[in-house]
Amino acid sequence: EKYMIGMDMGGTSIKFGLFTSDGELIHKWSIPTNIDNNGSAILDDSWNSMKSKLSEMNISTDKALGIGVGIPGYVDSQTGVVHEAINIGWKNKLITEELEGLSGLPVFIENDANIAVLGENWKGAGNQAQHVIAVTLGTGVGGGVISAGKILNGTNGMAGELGHILIEENGAYCNCGNHGCLETIASATGIVRQAKEAISKYPESSLAKHYETNKKVTARDVFELAAEGDVAATSIVDRVSDVLGHTFANIGVILNPEKILIGGGVSQAGEPFVNRINSYFQHYALPRVKESCEIKLAELGNDAGIIGGAFLVSQNMAGN
Ligand code: BGC
Ligand code: NA
Ligand code: ZN
Repeated sequence: EKYMIGMDMGGTSIKFGLFTSDGELIHKWSIPTNIDNNGSAILDDSWNSMKSKLSEMNISTDKALGIGVGIPGYVDSQTGVVHEAINIGWKNKLITEELEGLSGLPVFIENDANIAVLGENWKGAGNQAQHVIAVTLGTGVGGGVISAGKILNGTNGMAGELGHILIEENGAYCNCGNHGCLETIASATGIVRQAKEAISKYPESSLAKHYETNKKVTARDVFELAAEGDVAATSIVDRVSDVLGHTFANIGVILNPEKILIGGGVSQAGEPFVNRINSYFQHYALPRVKESCEIKLAELGNDAGIIGGAFLVSQNMAGN
């Protein structure tokens, strides 16, 4: 029996999954992400954790076919280089080389949202579609694009960085260095920022009262208050949905997708949120684009990344 390892790196935790060679998830676990010193301990920590898990399960390292890794940043999967991953402090890191050196196993890397769309398309909401897009709405906004059955990487891995589509000229500062990116509006962080702005605009709203009582507000609070009909919260959910529907209409004419999947923590807002995005999409999109495209929730939740990691291994090791 051979095994595959999927690894999904985030700013707070690193998730791992151990899979059989036919893609069955047999064990998953996570460790905290140590971002000290520009994340210099991350690869050592990760390999130590994988090594001890394998030995705990009586699996010798040479039974592992490889490790597929998702990274929250600019990843060139061809060269194995992470150009930049801001949340974990990495810059120009030769991750494939380093992790192969530590583990002695083949390593395959992808951007975190790319790996999520691969996972969703393999075992989740994508259902092995040929043309599918996933956006992950979390701390940041990630994008992954499968076109004609293949992940789209572009010249140096930047294809599908949908979080940095320009929405608002001179808008809020984005982590990428630009202003007004989709991420500044549709991420959890962006929603919180807009909530704080809405509080002064609607001082009588439940959102303002919520903030006064709790001294903080989360993206989840915004969706909950919107569901109760609060005017301030509704204005934000509406804006986010409008921007996403508009963006999907634009991306739609480039990729003509069969499915657009919404994942990440913010997608826990569920069907009402998707329906709202979809109504804007229906309003803006080219008829033949929208007729053949379904916007739906991702299904694998936090497991999408590790499952996509295993998919990367299986795809690259096919025939071994
Ligand atoms: C990064 C992407 C990443 C996304 C989700 C964005 O800020 O630019 O590379 O996929 O966050 O983690
Ligand atoms: Na991506
Ligand atoms: Zn940006």
